[in-house]
Amino acid sequence: MSSDLFGLDSVLKIKKSGVRNVFTPHTPINRFDHFFGREKDVKRMISLIDSPGQHILLYGDRGVGKTSLAKTTCSFILNKINKGLFFTKSCDSEDVFSSLFLEPLQHIGCDTSIQSITKSLKQTGDASLNVVAAKAGLQSERQSSTVFKNPANLNSPFWIANQLKGLDCIFLLDEVDTLVNVEDKHKLAELIKALSDLDSSFKIILVGIAKTASDLTAGHQSVQRCLKEIRLERMDDEDIRKIILNGMRQIEKRPIDDVVDKIVNISSGFPHFAHLICLKCAEIAIETNKTHIESEILDRALDYAATDSEGTLTESVDAILRTINKPQDYKLLLLAAANCQKRDFRSSEVTSKFKKLFNIDITSAKLSKRLSKLTNEDVSNSILIKTGRGCFSFQDPRMPSFIKISFNNSRIIPA
Ligand SMILES: Nc1ncnc2c1ncn2[C@@H]1O[C@H](COP(=O)(O)OP(=O)(O)OP(=O)(O)O)[C@@H](O)[C@H]1O
Ligand SMILES: [Mg+2]
Repeated sequence: MSSDLFGLDSVLKIKKSGVRNVFTPHTPINRFDHFFGREKDVKRMISLIDSPGQHILLYGDRGVGKTSLAKTTCSFILNKINKGLFFTKSCDSEDVFSSLFLEPLQHIGCDTSIQSITKSLKQTGDASLNVVAAKAGLQSERQSSTVFKNPANLNSPFWIANQLKGLDCIFLLDEVDTLVNVEDKHKLAELIKALSDLDSSFKIILVGIAKTASDLTAGHQSVQRCLKEIRLERMDDEDIRKIILNGMRQIEKRPIDDVVDKIVNISSGFPHFAHLICLKCAEIAIETNKTHIESEILDRALDYAATDSEGTLTESVDAILRTINKPQDYKLLLLAAANCQKRDFRSSEVTSKFKKLFNIDITSAKLSKRLSKLTNEDVSNSILIKTGRGCFSFQDPRMPSFIKISFNNSRIIPA
């Protein structure tokens, strides 16, 4: 049997290099030495946390860096400005309003485990009867039950606000978009309003995926003045470049300029993809004892990155391509559209990209036939959406990066 059992040598080499603590595509950042860009957003968050009665709603596309911004800024505030407590909760579809604040409530000594107590009142009969009953193995006590409502009223925003108002703390409530019930979102908004009215030091940061802030508060009006919105946009190319270069420097690898430019281009402002591709490049370089990362390593890294990409992206592309006769034609179309580098693109721009990338003149009839095949009526099942006449955008904003990773230009260009 080979001495490198199950690739153990490579695994150990990679582990020893520490690269997985530098490039972290699946873990949010919580320290400033690994955090780049976002200066304006960090400043705004610090100033809002420091303003009485203000809470924060941080929202944006999936994977733009919302949790990293929130966690890194909170850890900075709590280390440098205000020595309060920090609680964080990631919501999931099982959560309801009453399950959101258990940790800080328990911290202040509130018993949240029982919502009602049944008190048994024992009524004992006369002694002779007891003896007989005991002999007969019967219960001699009659019980009458009274239900006392526990003082913990986890369903009431006002009750919770009153309990927590004195706690000097930042509470980060992440993945708020997974709360399905509109009433729960309204209660959350009422709680924030109540904390604000009470001038509480208990600060809430809501984080979630949304196109507009009102998606996350279910349009509740009363909260608007005290919940300040921060929409997180994609990162600048320059900041993505910093993630690549700083990380590579830390592990003593040198990507050539062309590789850096390509990773910046593919990432399209999503730090997740920059981390993912860099991690794969670095792992190959470590395994093969190379210091310089050249295009050949990048090509291999993109193959690994495609396999490691999120299932929903892979599935939606596979599902469409499976139903199509000439998938290669559609791959080229998707690649041309992904290279338009814009949220909304026109079909005429796709035509020019086609020519530029593949030197193919595509007729407008062919183009519109293919575009409409990729634009399903059921939006959740579609790769593209039609945003206007001759205008399209990708349904999932991360799709252009995924397409560039999966249909890596240098492999797919027709002969
Ligand atoms: N400012 C940054 N500097 C460096 N890396 C970052 C930065 N922001 C995010 N990242 C990286 O990008 C990845 C995605 O970030 P994060 O998890 O914070 O995004 P998100 O918007 O919360 O994603 P989701 O919508 O899936 O919850 C993380 O793995 C993190 O390593
Ligand atoms: Mg997140």
